[in-house]
Amino acid sequence: MCGIIGIIGTRDAAPRLVEGLRRLEYRGYDSAGVATLINGHIDRRRAEGKLLNLDAKLRENPLPGIVGIGHTRWATHGGPTENNAHPHATPRVAVVHNGIIENYQELKDELIAHGHAFESATDTEVIVHLVTHYLNQGMTPVDAASASFKRFTGAFALVLIFAGEHDLMIGARHGTPLAVGYGEGEMYLASDAFALAPLTNRICYLEDGDWVVMTRERCTVHDATDTVVDRPVKTTAVSGALIGKDGYRHYMLKEIYEQPQVIGDTLNSYINPETARVTLPDLPFDISRATRLTIVACGTAYYAGLVAKYWFETLARLPVDIDIASEFRYREAPLPEGGVALFISQSGETLDTLEALRYCKRQGQKILSVVNVPESTIARESDAVLMTLAGPEIGVASTKAFTTQLTTLACLAVSVAHARGAISTERMQEIARALREVPARAAEVLAHDERLKELAAEVSEARDVLYLGRGAMYPLALEGALKLKEISYIHAEGYAAGELKHGPIALIDDSVPVIVLVPSDGLFEKVVSNVQEVCARSGKVLLLADSKGIDKLKDKVRWSVELPACDPLVAPLLYAIPVQLLAYHTAVLKGTDVDQPRNLAKSVTVE
Ligand code: F6R
Repeated sequence: MCGIIGIIGTRDAAPRLVEGLRRLEYRGYDSAGVATLINGHIDRRRAEGKLLNLDAKLRENPLPGIVGIGHTRWATHGGPTENNAHPHATPRVAVVHNGIIENYQELKDELIAHGHAFESATDTEVIVHLVTHYLNQGMTPVDAASASFKRFTGAFALVLIFAGEHDLMIGARHGTPLAVGYGEGEMYLASDAFALAPLTNRICYLEDGDWVVMTRERCTVHDATDTVVDRPVKTTAVSGALIGKDGYRHYMLKEIYEQPQVIGDTLNSYINPETARVTLPDLPFDISRATRLTIVACGTAYYAGLVAKYWFETLARLPVDIDIASEFRYREAPLPEGGVALFISQSGETLDTLEALRYCKRQGQKILSVVNVPESTIARESDAVLMTLAGPEIGVASTKAFTTQLTTLACLAVSVAHARGAISTERMQEIARALREVPARAAEVLAHDERLKELAAEVSEARDVLYLGRGAMYPLALEGALKLKEISYIHAEGYAAGELKHGPIALIDDSVPVIVLVPSDGLFEKVVSNVQEVCARSGKVLLLADSKGIDKLKDKVRWSVELPACDPLVAPLLYAIPVQLLAYHTAVLKGTDVDQPRNLAKSVTVE
C-alpha cells in the first residue's frame, strides 16, 4: 500500500526522503515521487515503477531543499503512471496521500466549476485543489487544511507542504496510520516508524481523526473535534539498519527459513517449558465462557483463522463463525450478547479487518486480536492482544507471519479447551510438547528444499494447479494455492478433497498438477480415496505426506515428499512450509518479482 514520508529539516531532504521510501518499499507500490520547497517554490520529481527510476531522475536533475515529502504509490484511482504519481501539487501546496477520498468526484466537479484544472486521474489531486481554493479565499494554510479535512470522506493519511512556508508541514490521519517523528531541530511524518528509524526513535502514533501542525521545533496535535491534545511520544525499538536479506536471494526465502526460530520465539512466550502448560497473558475477559467465537481476517490471515476454527471446535468444543473481513463488515451479522470476536492480522492495519473490528466493538463484543505489529491500529483498538513474534515480514507474500499466527492460535485454542474442561491437563501437556517439537520438525521440512526446487520445475510448466486437503489441511490447500498464484501468477485453486467430485474433478487431466496434503490423521483414509479418484483420471499427484501416506500411495502418485510424522494438531504448521517453498521456487523459475509481486501490497489500507 502507499507509503508516505515528510521531513521538515535542517539539511537536504530529498536523499533522506528516498531512504525512507526505500524502507516503505515492502508495502508494495508501482510509482514514486518526492517534492521539496526550493526558495519558497514547490518542485517535484516523480517516476513510474521502482525507486531506481526515481533515483535516476534525481541524479539527472537533483532536488535541493530542506522541507519535503515523498511517496510510494500503489495505484487505486488512475493507472500507475508518472502523471498519477504523488506528490500532487498546485503552485501553492503539495500533498502525499495514502487511502481513498471517496467523494472526490463531487469535490472535483465543484472545483472545476471554480476554474481549477486537473492533470491526473487520481482522487488525491482534489486535496491540493481544495486546499488551494481555500488559500485563494484568504485562509491561512492551517485553516485551509483543517477546512479541507472536514470535507473529505473515506480513509486517508496525508502530509501537506505549502509554497513560501519553510517552517510548516501539516498532516492528517483518518482511518489510515500516520506517525510523527521527533528529531533534533527537525520533525518528521511517515506511514510507519520503520521508515523513520534512521532519523529518530522518538515516535508518536496519531489517533484516528487527529491532524497535526508541525514546525521544526514543535508538533501541535488536534483531535477530530479540533481540540489540541497530548499524544504520548514513545521510544521505539525499530532498528535504523535496513533489514537485510542475510545472503538469501529474496526476503521471502529468508523469511521461510526463519520459521523454526520465530515459531520457537512465539511458543516461548505462550508455553512454560518446565510445566509444559500453555499460559497466556491475563486477558481482561474470559474467552472460555464465550458461547460462540467470531473470527474475522483477510487473505492468509483468514486461512490461519480457518485452521483455528477447526482447533476451537474439535478441541475446545467452542462454536466458531468465521468470515473474510470485506464480507463480514457489510453483513450486519447479529452477534451474541457478551460475545468474543477475534481478529488476525500481520500488519494490524488491514482496513477491512479494522472496520470489522469496529463493527464488533459497536455490537458490544469483546475484542481479541492476534497481530505482528504491536503499535498497529488493530492492536491499539483491541481489548486484548496476543502477539505473533515473527519480526518484520518484508516479502509481500506472508510466510512466517502465517505460521506464527497458527502457533499463537494453537496455544489459544489449547488453553481455552483446557479452561472449558474439554481436554485434560495431560492432553494439554501432550499438545504443548508436540508444539515445542515444531521448530525442530520445521527445520527437517526445510531440508526438502532441493527436492521442492526440482518439483517446482514441473509446476512452473503448468497453466493450472490444484491443491487438496481435508479438515485442517483444507485451509492449507487454500493457502498453498494463494501462495502459488500471488507470486508465480499461475492459476491455482485449493479445494476440500471431499468436494472434488462435486465439480472440480472435471479439471483433472495429465497437465494439471494436483498437490495433496495428507498427514496421518483421522481423515487420512478419506483423502487416500480422493487421491485414488484423481489418479484414476490420469491426474499427476504431488503427495505431501508422512511415511504412512507415502507407503500407501507411492505407487499411485507421480511425486512425493515425505514430511515428519507429528501430532495431527500441529501438522498445519509443518505442511505450510513445503507449499511456501514450492511457490517460491516456481516463481523464481518464472522470473517474477518474488518479494513485490505485481499489483499486490503488503498492508492493504484501502477497501
Ligand atoms: C498473502 C498475504 C495477504 C495477507 C492479507 C491480510 O500472502 O500476505 O493475503 O494475508 O492481505 O494482511 P494482514 O495479515 O496484514 O491483515
